[in-house]
Amino acid sequence: MPQFSSRVEAVSISGIREVFESAGEDAINLGIGQPDFPTPDHARDAATNAIEAGTVDGYTSNKGNRSLREAIGEKHERDNKFTVDPANVITTAGGSEALHLALEAHVEPGQEVIIPDPGFVSYEALTHIAGGTPTPVGLRDDLTMDPAAVERAITEDTAAFVVCSPANPTGAVQSKGDMRAFARIADEHDVVCVSDEVYEQIVFDGDHHSPMAFADTDSVVVVNACSKAYSMTGWRLGWVAASHERTERMLRVHQYIQACASAPAQYAAEAALTGPQSVVDRMVSAFEERRDVLLDGLSDIGLETPTPHGAFYAMPRVPDGWVDAVLDRDVIVVPGEAFGDRGSGHARISYATGTESIKEALERMDDATTAVR
Ligand SMILES: Cc1ncc(COP(=O)(O)O)c(C=O)c1O
Repeated sequence: MPQFSSRVEAVSISGIREVFESAGEDAINLGIGQPDFPTPDHARDAATNAIEAGTVDGYTSNKGNRSLREAIGEKHERDNKFTVDPANVITTAGGSEALHLALEAHVEPGQEVIIPDPGFVSYEALTHIAGGTPTPVGLRDDLTMDPAAVERAITEDTAAFVVCSPANPTGAVQSKGDMRAFARIADEHDVVCVSDEVYEQIVFDGDHHSPMAFADTDSVVVVNACSKAYSMTGWRLGWVAASHERTERMLRVHQYIQACASAPAQYAAEAALTGPQSVVDRMVSAFEERRDVLLDGLSDIGLETPTPHGAFYAMPRVPDGWVDAVLDRDVIVVPGEAFGDRGSGHARISYATGTESIKEALERMDDATTAVR
């Protein structure tokens, strides 16, 4: 019997994959976490031109091309009202690697990481991989995370807490006051706030705020990516932004597990970040329209759904047996418990798919709801 590390044994394959595999080939897929738009032409062209010019055949600097990191710094200054020296940005293989770096560099074996429950599946898994212990914290009725609940969960063993806004799987957007409070908590308790901002651009009501803009110390690590904002999930380009001290520790991990982010993707990302942002506006308008269609439909079916103000997910409260009944009707949705114990009684529905598919799926959900009520 081979021996495996207890860190890896503590992690299982994502429940989302199991749902995909159980569905029929022609199923309507409302389980998917990626926009259904193409990557903007100017981003694709930048990568193609770099490939043809032969400039991407070798490693880049470990942190990534300086010009890309400058573009990221300018983006944070423009959109997020904080300044980061490009030297303190590491470009990564998507937001996923960025989260891994943040936790690996800050969590000692046995230390606790406070995570939202329900929350994005990687937080729990990456905490285990770093040898830490996840401390799931329940959400408010509107599915936002309460800073007071985070503060109550802090112990002397807490290394970090993760904030995700707009959130997967809930679509909830934290208020400016909450983000200010998260920054204060991280500062005062000397724990790291890992702020996952990969859905930052996809906000319908209100604005996105980063806790980094409010922190008085270097207690916040920002994780971001081009994946969702520019429909670039396949390119694998994200980043971390933090203080010099923290970046230097995260670089030690990045250097050995990744060396550098994919060079063609770096060119595409730079073009996406510095090019016209109207492509993002068009995607966000489409998501907002779809959200409204979905929310109206769910309300007609009689399912209570906290209004998602961002990302492209909704999380209705559903009766027992609902997810299976919907899957039986060839619509893929993800059971809430895939995102944590407190997700049970909910389902995650992604609306990163066309309106006609959403309308057809709603009819089948109506039928499934009648069957299980
Ligand atoms: C909240 C959240 N953070 C991070 C990621 C990882 O994104 P990437 O595809 O850039 O690795 C995802 C992907 O679904 C996500 O939903």
